[in-house]
Amino acid sequence: MVKIAIAGGSGGVGQEIVDILVATKKHEILLLSRKDAPAESASQATTWIKTDYSNVDELAQILQGVHTVLSFVTEQEDPTSPVQKKLIDASVKAGVKRFAPSEWVSSGLAHMSWYGFKETTRQYLKDLNKDKKVLEYTLFQPGYFLNYLTRPYPSTKHIPLTDLPWDFNNRRWLAVDEGQNSTLTLTTVADLANVVAQAIEFEGEWPVVGGIKGNDITMGELLALAENVRGGKPFAVEHVKAQDLEAGTWKTSWTPVIEHASIPPEQRAGLARFFTSSILLAVNANQLLVSDSWNQLLPDYKFTVIDEFLIEAWKGKP
Ligand SMILES: NC(=O)c1ccc[n+]([C@@H]2O[C@H](COP(=O)([O-])OP(=O)(O)OC[C@H]3O[C@@H](n4cnc5c(N)ncnc54)[C@H](OP(=O)(O)O)[C@@H]3O)[C@@H](O)[C@H]2O)c1
Repeated sequence: MVKIAIAGGSGGVGQEIVDILVATKKHEILLLSRKDAPAESASQATTWIKTDYSNVDELAQILQGVHTVLSFVTEQEDPTSPVQKKLIDASVKAGVKRFAPSEWVSSGLAHMSWYGFKETTRQYLKDLNKDKKVLEYTLFQPGYFLNYLTRPYPSTKHIPLTDLPWDFNNRRWLAVDEGQNSTLTLTTVADLANVVAQAIEFEGEWPVVGGIKGNDITMGELLALAENVRGGKPFAVEHVKAQDLEAGTWKTSWTPVIEHASIPPEQRAGLARFFTSSILLAVNANQLLVSDSWNQLLPDYKFTVIDEFLIEAWKGKP
């Protein structure tokens, strides 16, 4: 049993991890939030702590006796990542053993400017351990959640699904010219949560780069699989050139609107082209292809297989 502090644990991904850690009945869990505890919350299995993350001493007080800090805060509005820097400083001050910053997605960060805070935190942790190991940490990286490909049918409890350029429901696809061999990692949220739960109990040292490889698949293979699970009918594929995506001159008959809690709803339509081109360029440049570090450390863990997951998810759907 260890004491775990979960920053941003009220959000989509954080709640998925909290659920699985609570289900183990092994740990004491502190949930850090800027908000008041919801009246109906109730989970007696977690202790809700309100903080504005502004004061390192106060945070260090909160983190007294904590073994592991998991961060899910999304500092997309500030690439200098002030909240995570304070969390790290406070973790060191409080003698926290392990820290996981708010990664939870890609290995590379190119083309995804909204992830600037992740880059800053990676560097901050690297600098911290430059001369000697001050804080053990891992960058949990599962690639994209496979669950997104079931939209509009829910396949997670807490994570709202978003449209993407790969639209199973409407059998349409945006493809980057000559990008059919670019490869991405797709991992279910359940597999991520299980691996994190096992990582908490892992007795060896956490690897700095913590890739979690559910499935690797090329964009060409993913399209073929999509057509297969959607009844063998061909998708309407529209091709765009990487250089046009970069120049903003690409034209398609539709653009997915990316929905995430960190993007205000009234801004989503206006940002659709920006996010769509950025995601296509990032995948095209293999930024979503992650290492298998945790697969190697947890060799008995069986990951969900993409074909089986998608066939089951789309069975009987119009
Ligand atoms: N692999 C994937 O496909 C994938 C998909 C989605 C997200 N992710 C990653 O998972 C992580 C969590 O994302 P999420 O979807 O769970 O986000 P989310 O739903 O927005 O939750 C993040 C939580 O962090 C807190 N927070 C947000 N901004 C903050 C700030 N500036 N300072 C302090 N706290 C802040 C908020 O909690 P309070 O308001 O309670 O403080 C919020 O509920 C991110 O690193 C994201 O990039 C990966």
